[in-house]
Amino acid sequence: MIDTVLAALRCPVCHEPLHQTEGSLRCPRGHSFDRARQGYVHLGAGRKLPEGDTTEMVAARSAFLQAGHYQLVRTTVAGFVPSSAALIADAGAGTGYYLAGALDAAPEAAGIALDVAKPALRRAARVHPRAEAVLADVWAGLPLADGCLDVLLNVFAPRNGAEFRRVLRPTGLLVVVTPLPQHLAELRQRYGLLDVDPDKAGRLAATLSEFTLVEAEELTFALQLTPDEVRALVGMGPNAFHSAAPDADAAADTDTTAPAVATVTVTAAVRVAAYAPTPPR
Ligand SMILES: C[S@@+](CC[C@H](N)C(=O)[O-])C[C@H]1O[C@@H](n2cnc3c(N)ncnc32)[C@H](O)[C@@H]1O
Ligand SMILES: [Zn+2]
Repeated sequence: MIDTVLAALRCPVCHEPLHQTEGSLRCPRGHSFDRARQGYVHLGAGRKLPEGDTTEMVAARSAFLQAGHYQLVRTTVAGFVPSSAALIADAGAGTGYYLAGALDAAPEAAGIALDVAKPALRRAARVHPRAEAVLADVWAGLPLADGCLDVLLNVFAPRNGAEFRRVLRPTGLLVVVTPLPQHLAELRQRYGLLDVDPDKAGRLAATLSEFTLVEAEELTFALQLTPDEVRALVGMGPNAFHSAAPDADAAADTDTTAPAVATVTVTAAVRVAAYAPTPPR
């Protein structure tokens, strides 16, 4: 395991530092945590873990991201990362796509992908030579030392403001990506998918009351998607829990200008925002 990461990890039961023994991590009180064959460490102790994304959802997201459709989001996130960062984590990292981009922007940094979904962690464990993957529930408290992170990413994933504040250095930065109301509007209309909460901005501010906004960028761009990609996009989001994936032919029939593969145009609209921990009064 990467030294910088090991030094930052804490026992999820007693919060003592961890050391490495064969195939597992141990704290001085004898709590022991296995490293899975697929490379991630299981630090999800305590109450029952939330479900996280399924294998199908993770595979869909991985294919979609690898096709480069959200490259602009990744570049914008990475643009907020100081090149001097030493430790970067991603809460709800999924496959680690954004964490890898952030690590490329900080040549000395090590990274920690945190997620509850094992299918995602298997991929995140291999996403970058300077990254480790850790199974942890953001609601249960993160298995990280106080003030250990220079940057924490949170991309389309649950937020625990108080924990995020605890694990960031006072000079650290939280980079959050959230969908804007018009995000994927065409698919929402067509398939009756869940709308983005119109008060998302208000809820975001409420969950991040320990932080001060430093800078925000709103990105709106067009995605040209094949029917398979439409299916992947619907299958990879929270909608996958609520609706059947659309059938590919129905998706293809709106735009037949490209003779080989019919594509549909879908609007992506997201907000990338950087926050600093608010100093205590
Ligand atoms: C919409 S996905 C985004 C993944 C990744 N950030 C991306 O954009 O590619 C949300 C992620 O949050 C994870 N997640 C859900 N609940 C979680 C929790 N309580 N703790 C940690 N991760 C969680 C899911 O397993 C999933 O990987
Ligand atoms: Zn312990």
